[in-house]
Amino acid sequence: MHSIHIIGAGLAGLSAALTFAEAGVPCNLISAQPSERAQSVLAEGGINAALDTMGEHDTPAEHFADTVRGGCDLADENAVKHLTESAPEILRRLIALGVPFNMQGDVPVLRNFGGQKKKRTAYARSSTGKIIMNAMTDAVRRYESAGLVRRYAHHSCLSLLTERGCCKGVRVLDRYTGASADFYGTVLLCSGGLNGVFPEKTTGTTQNTGDLTAAAFAAGVQLGNPEMLQYHPTTVGISGKRCLVTEAARGEGGRLYILRGGEKWYFMEEKYPELGNLMPRDVVAREMYFVRQNPECGGQVYLDLTALPEETWRRKLSDLRKELTDYLALDPKADPIPVEEGIHYFMGGIDTDCAHRTNLAGLYAAGECCSQYHGANRLGGNSMLGALLGGKTAADSILAAEGIPETAEKPVWQPCSDPLAAEVPPAEAAQIRDILLGGLGIVRDAASLEGALRQLTEFAAVPHNLRTQNRILLGEAMLRGALARRESRGAHYRADYPARDDAAFRKTTVAVYDGSTVQITFRQLPEKGGA
Ligand code: FUM
Repeated sequence: MHSIHIIGAGLAGLSAALTFAEAGVPCNLISAQPSERAQSVLAEGGINAALDTMGEHDTPAEHFADTVRGGCDLADENAVKHLTESAPEILRRLIALGVPFNMQGDVPVLRNFGGQKKKRTAYARSSTGKIIMNAMTDAVRRYESAGLVRRYAHHSCLSLLTERGCCKGVRVLDRYTGASADFYGTVLLCSGGLNGVFPEKTTGTTQNTGDLTAAAFAAGVQLGNPEMLQYHPTTVGISGKRCLVTEAARGEGGRLYILRGGEKWYFMEEKYPELGNLMPRDVVAREMYFVRQNPECGGQVYLDLTALPEETWRRKLSDLRKELTDYLALDPKADPIPVEEGIHYFMGGIDTDCAHRTNLAGLYAAGECCSQYHGANRLGGNSMLGALLGGKTAADSILAAEGIPETAEKPVWQPCSDPLAAEVPPAEAAQIRDILLGGLGIVRDAASLEGALRQLTEFAAVPHNLRTQNRILLGEAMLRGALARRESRGAHYRADYPARDDAAFRKTTVAVYDGSTVQITFRQLPEKGGA
């Protein structure tokens, strides 16, 4: 039995497992879903690296500047520097692993993506996540057969095992047998974003329930910037979820418009002549929200892809065209696509330092479940990059801090008294979602946030299972963080505080549960050049 436990088998988890295995250190890879069904396979548009293959003289320094500016100066700049400087090597590594990016000769073609002034996003048509995951899953498989990576797919984590302020392991549920066991050792959470907290409203899989983040928070693990959730501008509602229309469609020339007085109004191009439809997502989503409220406008925003050349559809966006045709019965070459903002990513999450340590000794976090790299708004194309780097960095710091772990005792499986307690009942999940969305929309204010908090408190007053109680606490942290941040920055826009206030709030929101109340404080950002 190994004594390093990675929870989650998406890109961050695979990247960590590969790092351990290449160092000859065994680990367990525990996940509710197999890698093939992880959220990472849904990533579409691409992955950023200043490879400068398009003759634009791009540099990691410009990638850094765009990422920091896109995140509205809230990200830890030391971490962003590491991210953007590591990106070219990460891309080269993926190519060496056999990822079939769209290539020109022997270098990847790069496309435009939101919030970036240079072409910097490598892609494999519009299925980049699936294709990178195939290569990473295969790379890890080699070490599974050597016994260095032990897979526990279809296993959920019920809780962290803690003792005197330290994480000692995790309690794991076998979803097929209903038995549970305690796994002792160092824990790295790569459990993804909080999609399950917002069923039907996110582009991500609700299999990423957010329940482990909630359980960690209830156990005293700090959250960073929990109020920062990203609305992607171009999503379409379908079968109980928001279907993503990749930003790559705008990167390749797609245009947003709304009808005003019967005429097409390309509002982004008019208002932001430099980046137009490719402004950072927080800006585009907010502008869409505002034009929809405009009484002169038609109320529906459209994405116009009709002018894209056939060559672009065939070589760069063939899978998007198929999705739009198959699932939405739209021919994007003839019909504009009615789009709406949908929750897409969680910049906030488990609070970590640059080495991906949490405030609980023995517990690390990487990927979308943690709050590293993206500040108040993530740039498209930086998410897979953050997951790959985060998983590797966390694994490296575990190896440095904990050394080569002893082999642990085998887990003892026992019948779990109430496996259903592992789920938030769907009706309750929908109620919590509706309450939270009442406060955490694209535009927020004190009245809506306080109203949502009141409703959440009333909802909490009736008995709920442990998972639901934890989700309520997590929701409270998001609402209280948003209420305390009395400014507008990135994805957090307060109608009652529309200006950015660097003096008071260019700081990380830290949420902590002390066993009875949720406390919010603001922490200075780390010094540049610090750890
Ligand atoms: O629109 C997209 O393809 C999303 C990419 C991302 O979130 O990085």
